[in-house]
Amino acid sequence: MNYLPLFALETWILLITFTCLFVMYGKRTFGIFEKLGISGPKPTMYFGSICKYNNVYYLDDQECAQKYGKIWGTYELRKPMLVVMDPDLLKTILVKECFTHFTNRRNFCLNGDLYDAVNIAEDDDWRRIRNVLSPLFTTSRIKQIFSLMKRQSSKLTSSLEPKAENEEIISIKDFFGAYNMNVATGVLFGMEMEPSLPIKHASKLFKFPIPLFMIQGCFPILLPLLQLMGFSLFPRDSFAFVKKIVEKIRAERDGGSHQEFDFLQHMISTQKNDGLTDHEIVSQLTVLLTGGYETSTLALTLSIYSLATNPGSMNRLQEEIDATFPDGAPVTYEALMQMEYVDCVINECLRLYPPAARLERTAKETVEISGITIPKNMTVTVPIFALHRDPEHWPEPEEFKPDRFSKQNKGRINPYTYLPFGIGPRKCLGMRLALVIVKLALVETLQKYSFSVCKETEIPFKMDPNTFVGPINPIKLRVVRR
Ligand code: HEM
Repeated sequence: MNYLPLFALETWILLITFTCLFVMYGKRTFGIFEKLGISGPKPTMYFGSICKYNNVYYLDDQECAQKYGKIWGTYELRKPMLVVMDPDLLKTILVKECFTHFTNRRNFCLNGDLYDAVNIAEDDDWRRIRNVLSPLFTTSRIKQIFSLMKRQSSKLTSSLEPKAENEEIISIKDFFGAYNMNVATGVLFGMEMEPSLPIKHASKLFKFPIPLFMIQGCFPILLPLLQLMGFSLFPRDSFAFVKKIVEKIRAERDGGSHQEFDFLQHMISTQKNDGLTDHEIVSQLTVLLTGGYETSTLALTLSIYSLATNPGSMNRLQEEIDATFPDGAPVTYEALMQMEYVDCVINECLRLYPPAARLERTAKETVEISGITIPKNMTVTVPIFALHRDPEHWPEPEEFKPDRFSKQNKGRINPYTYLPFGIGPRKCLGMRLALVIVKLALVETLQKYSFSVCKETEIPFKMDPNTFVGPINPIKLRVVRR
């Protein structure tokens, strides 16, 4: 049967015009890198060059690095992104020109209630909010909350006790995740709560809904409409969850003079001097609660995994722990900070598995750096995962070798080749706190227990293609008493 003649001529004209426009729109942004003289994978209409060589985006970065070198151009759907792995260029973008041209990350526009969170806020708003939050992460503040962390690490080791008694196989993340969330709620709100609900919110905050992500990337023209209709890449119920906690605590504290220190109280106290608004307070707490959880939990889970798969390194770390805290002596802040090998282990784990696989900055103006033109509004991506596995900087990059970070070797590392927390004025705000949280849990756990691989352990594990660098399936290990 032949249906074609059934359409009227006008319908044919409309159909052909629509198809031509659709094809042209899908390809319109392509070609910019050819004009700039930058190579990269060939894009496909609408899909761009997303995961061209590997469906795990950070493994794809690694393959692109092997093919195109230190700089290449890619298209995330229709959006051109300049990928930079050159250490000198990174120094200029992330540090020297941070306040002038590269202050902000990409703005997805569909930020929902989190439009004023520190990681999303831009320019003067970002500076003001970051200035309010920075005093929360000083060494003296961290020392002040160390006893709270110790209460939670003691809960962690107790929860492992019955499992170790029976030499059970456990899903590591369940234990370290609960510890991290307990520390987070204690530090942020000064309260203990059942960790499962905040964990549920934290786990989904940075998992963008794929259809919405595709629409914003393929049809940015629709962004104002989507914004108007209330669409958000970040789930609104996570903000509402934190808002409810904050309102409850504030109602309880109102009138009384709350003496204890916690992040919420600090933010409230700044309100007397034009500090954060009520909405800004909830946004910061939502991001701190969730952003810190997934990253620190991955760092801990993968440190234990790396040690279990490298028993020599685990023994060496346990020897250091026993020498620093003889006969199971209590872990103190000062002694913990002096330990060298635990530092090497965590650094090496964050090199192999940096939870955030990429960093981003967007150019405010067209700039030329080292002969490369970066046009206005172009997003520059730093493929941290690929950078950390670049054989030019890291011999035998796939091997777990904590000694790369020993006192003798550390000095030889170019700081722009190792960026698990980013670098420059916009680097991770919680870096110091995260390192103490991770070190404490690692040391107290290995003081009492050892971990080993078993037939349920996936080696190497299958990488999660969607969010942070980590395993798609739970890491399972056997835990035994030492
Ligand atoms: C091992 C754990 C962690 C890792 C690997 C990590 C990594 C990162 C990275 C790569 C960035 C982007 C930096 C850049 O763009 O240059 C970042 C930003 C940030 N991190 Fe972390 N993070 C961790 C834990 C934490 C914790 C515990 C908190 C807070 C409690 C936190 C709060 C933040 C905030 C607020 C930002 C945004 C800073 C800004 O835009 O000014 N992070 N983090």
